[in-house]
Amino acid sequence: MTAASTTASTSASFAAQPPVAAQRFEIRAFDAPLGAEIIGLDLGAPLADDDFARIHRAHLDHHVLVFRDQRITPAQHVEFSRRFGPLQQHVLHQFALAEHPDVLIVSNVVENGKPIGLGDAGHFWHSDLSYKEKPSLGSLLHAQELPSEGGDTLFANMHLAWDSLPAHLRTAVEGLRAEHTYLARYAELQARSPWRPNLSAEQIAQVKPVVHPVVRTHPETGRKALFVSEHFTTRIVDLPDDESRALLDELFEHSVRAEHVYRHVWREHDLVFWDNRSLMHLAAGTPDHLRRKLYRTTIEGDAPF
Ligand code: SIN
Repeated sequence: MTAASTTASTSASFAAQPPVAAQRFEIRAFDAPLGAEIIGLDLGAPLADDDFARIHRAHLDHHVLVFRDQRITPAQHVEFSRRFGPLQQHVLHQFALAEHPDVLIVSNVVENGKPIGLGDAGHFWHSDLSYKEKPSLGSLLHAQELPSEGGDTLFANMHLAWDSLPAHLRTAVEGLRAEHTYLARYAELQARSPWRPNLSAEQIAQVKPVVHPVVRTHPETGRKALFVSEHFTTRIVDLPDDESRALLDELFEHSVRAEHVYRHVWREHDLVFWDNRSLMHLAAGTPDHLRRKLYRTTIEGDAPF
């Protein structure tokens, strides 16, 4: 084959790439303080740029997107997640999926005396990886095996929590910073469940305490949100311990008032994508005798400001 014919066949193969076809899908907002469901989209198929842009916009508007009926593989789950940014691996790497270290197994299942995943993820209200310098942008949780009862996930809208905060509290917290620590309640969780292994020195070194603003600005929408949680926030810096404790308790209680919360009741093959910059979440719990297994990816976000 001559050089000229090589060039010709290469251009022909470029020209032969068909454009990715748009999919027909619906975005239906929930009758709730946040959330929408996506009906008719197949995340296992190639995603056109316009469809991606529509999903991105909906995620910013609704904070939780529930993609129904996603029969996708872990590789497809990872590929879709990566369109939003680099992925973060969980410090409990022993619960990552063997072939996909970016996927955390969230499960209460114990096999041969060993937990197959993190069973008490989300036991306290939190925003994923808020204990990192760059906390998570968002997380995608894909149902693999659901219990016949229980296993719901609750989401609290932290923009609404900020917007509805009484004026004296807004004044009190604006400009303050708080410490977030992965280890804050680790011993407490370890004492009550089989899912918390002892951490190695290397794991402990990965989760040094960090400090973030108590009120953060969403980097894409500019909206303000409260950014403290009962799981990872230990204290407000520069305040005496008793004042810090009292203020945090007041903020936690206010954040999760019923009017800020959506409760997700899982359906088979749901993929739920939430914005950790706008929300906190909580796993409501599963009866011990029922199995629950989900796969989670976590996208890296920006340092909060
Ligand atoms: C999590 O906190 O990421 C897990 C939530 C859940 O299991 O519902």
